[in-house]
Amino acid sequence: MRVFVAGATGVLGRRIVRQLVARGHVPVGLTRSESGDATVRSLGGEPRRADLFDVDALAKAAEGCSVVIHAATAIPTKVRTRPKDWDMNDRIRREGTRALTTAAGRVGAGAYLQQSVVWAVRGPPGTIFDEDAPPVGDPILASALDSERIAREAGAKHGFRTAILRCGGFYSADGWHTRILAESLFRGRPVLVDGGTGVWSWLHAEDAASAFVAASEWPKPGLWHVVDDRPASLREFLGLLAEKLGTRPPRRVSRSVARLFVGRYTADLLAASFPTSNARFRSDFRWTASFPTFEKGLGEVVAAWRSEGFPGRQVPRA
Ligand SMILES: NC(=O)c1ccc[n+]([C@@H]2O[C@H](COP(=O)([O-])OP(=O)(O)OC[C@H]3O[C@@H](n4cnc5c(N)ncnc54)[C@H](OP(=O)(O)O)[C@@H]3O)[C@@H](O)[C@H]2O)c1
Repeated sequence: MRVFVAGATGVLGRRIVRQLVARGHVPVGLTRSESGDATVRSLGGEPRRADLFDVDALAKAAEGCSVVIHAATAIPTKVRTRPKDWDMNDRIRREGTRALTTAAGRVGAGAYLQQSVVWAVRGPPGTIFDEDAPPVGDPILASALDSERIAREAGAKHGFRTAILRCGGFYSADGWHTRILAESLFRGRPVLVDGGTGVWSWLHAEDAASAFVAASEWPKPGLWHVVDDRPASLREFLGLLAEKLGTRPPRRVSRSVARLFVGRYTADLLAASFPTSNARFRSDFRWTASFPTFEKGLGEVVAAWRSEGFPGRQVPRA
């Protein structure tokens, strides 16, 4: 099976390409540079250059592909973000989804997979919500929900199956957000907003990729939450990370002070709770996470960091 992957050079996309190759498929990776071409090639995929907003170029690049995956993003890689920092991400989600779904229709793909995020919806406090939970009213998350709608409408128009995979908070050794949390712990910066009691749904990036591979192999229309087996608070997650890194325990900060330093979006996200369940995805795709909880996943992450000497010399040796 030939699978077109937009975002093939990213944290998620590189893993999707590698896992597709391991399963005997041919991933065709959208790239924007020579180094992107080299990355996709090194993973065993076929690079294709195209602009994510150019339907003709995308359709040419995706020719012969039966599945199209949108895993591109421009989530700002800085701690303090302002609304305009999200402009390109919004464009990728709205215009990019429009262009990619039109291209998928043109090449006659049978399935289109759209990534999204589980924290775009929430349930009542204290409950574990599912795919039917209502959206949150945050303008920064509106484009994720718009991309889901655009993808669904395109599926109805062009006749392909649209699968929306809303993923939990990624963590991985190469993920920018995981690394910045580790560096903050290492430098003794406060990371626990409002005590870190917000409960997140986590997902190792390897498991996010295996979910996309499962949905490529068994395409169905629908919406699923892809998270690990147990939501956990930031206090638990960062406490264990600090322990494994050999740093001081995570320091606390109030939300009002955090907003001054990291901005409203980051401070509120660090205080938010979004515990959700993977029950529907597990049952519909017979999928299991290889890192069912963050305890297991962080072991892999910190082991990888040790071999590269990250985040500093104080990191204890195995
Ligand atoms: N991080 C999380 O916690 C999380 C959780 C759930 C879902 N997700 C979603 O999963 C997706 C992938 O995240 P990630 O962590 O893998 O991101 P990433 O590592 O930053 O990768 C971003 C990818 O998007 C590509 N891209 C950026 N701007 C582009 C543009 N204008 N045109 C074409 N391609 C462009 C990048 O290509 P270049 O290499 O050419 O820049 C790269 O391949 C995102 O959509 C994100 O919303 C993330």
